[in-house]
Amino acid sequence: MNVVVVGSGFREHALARACQASPLADRVVVAPGNAGMAADVECVPARDAAAVSALARDLQALVIIGPEAPLAAGWADHLRQDGLLVCGPSAAAAELESSKVAAKALMERLDVPTARARVVTSAAEADRVLAGWQGPVVVKADGLAAGKGVLLADTPDEARGAVQQLMGDTRFGAAAARVLLEERLLGPELSAMALTDGRRLVWLPATQDYKRVGDGDQGPNTGGMGAVGPHRQWTPQLADWLADRVFLPVIDELRRGGRPFAGVLYAGLMMTADGPRVLEWNVRLGDPEAAVVLALVKDDLLPYWLGAATGELPSRPPAWSGASVAVVMAASGYPDRSEPGAAVSYAPEPGVVMLHAGTGRDARGRLVSGGGRTLLAVASADDVPTARERAYRQVAHVQFDGMVVRSDIAAEYCHS
Ligand code: AMP
Ligand code: GLY
Repeated sequence: MNVVVVGSGFREHALARACQASPLADRVVVAPGNAGMAADVECVPARDAAAVSALARDLQALVIIGPEAPLAAGWADHLRQDGLLVCGPSAAAAELESSKVAAKALMERLDVPTARARVVTSAAEADRVLAGWQGPVVVKADGLAAGKGVLLADTPDEARGAVQQLMGDTRFGAAAARVLLEERLLGPELSAMALTDGRRLVWLPATQDYKRVGDGDQGPNTGGMGAVGPHRQWTPQLADWLADRVFLPVIDELRRGGRPFAGVLYAGLMMTADGPRVLEWNVRLGDPEAAVVLALVKDDLLPYWLGAATGELPSRPPAWSGASVAVVMAASGYPDRSEPGAAVSYAPEPGVVMLHAGTGRDARGRLVSGGGRTLLAVASADDVPTARERAYRQVAHVQFDGMVVRSDIAAEYCHS
């Protein structure tokens, strides 16, 4: 079979490589991909739903949609109307990610454990809510903001400034017309991902994502600076509890509401002293977590992507083993004002896969950063310390002026 992977990030590079390795796959293309990944996967410059539809019909391909923006914009609906098989939810189901206000309301209705929150639609309303607030606050834009719409405030006063910052930022526009004020929870985070066909689910390996830009979880939130898996707090008991209390109630509710979910459902959890709480929903694989997930899974996932698309998900969960660590290298200034154009080069390390997001070529044919997150070193091994050592050995051999990289990805997995 043929596969079209939509997107151009690390996630899509990893997905395309995994599909290519499947004995079931003939041709695998990424739409549009980027110059760096084109060295090992075929990239086609299809950049809107109509172009992807034409490409996929031509190839009679399964379409796997990687990023949230095309899902929220209804590409899966468009492609299904054109008769294609699609792994990825409709715009209506993708609301779980595209509106944090809607997701919070759904969780409250289904009694899914989550952080308490209030919705405000103006700075004045935020002031009134914050006047009686005790303790730190998380301030979140309602809509999609590429991982940058969540601000952590230590005091209600700081939160007032954060509300103004979000509502006044023209980059966010309507995405910040509504803002959530949320109680700030403490604990390690866990990214739980499952593939679903709208009725049943199978688990993918749980991972830990590193959201803040700096070592020791300092500085602003980003799209993710690295990941490790499998998560050390993942147990069969947690999986069962999450299925019963969190994932299946949401999957059932969406199906009953006429918007069945076909694809990857991702809950970002905080493992608090009072138990797991859902912080956010994503309607796709995490990026960079996808690279770790796909490195850990040893079974061919193509039957699963296809099964999610057709409503017949294989019932046996995919097997995974070993450990994987992924370290992001981003352009200077990330995440606030990151600069495109820096040349990047590296000598490949054995046992490490280098994934590309947004890389291009300059007039002389050299690989350059497109700005933002650029390279991802993904290493696998039997255990985390070995995988981590390999990933950082690769990072040390990268030439990339001003690159932003964390030095503590997976560090806490390596002592004790
Ligand atoms: P979100 O976009 O909702 O995933 O939030 C991004 C990140 O902000 C999460 O991965 C957490 O690190 C942090 N965060 C979100 N909500 C909370 C919360 N209620 N308490 C503490 N941290 C949070
Ligand atoms: N790395 C977090 C995300 O993909 O949303």
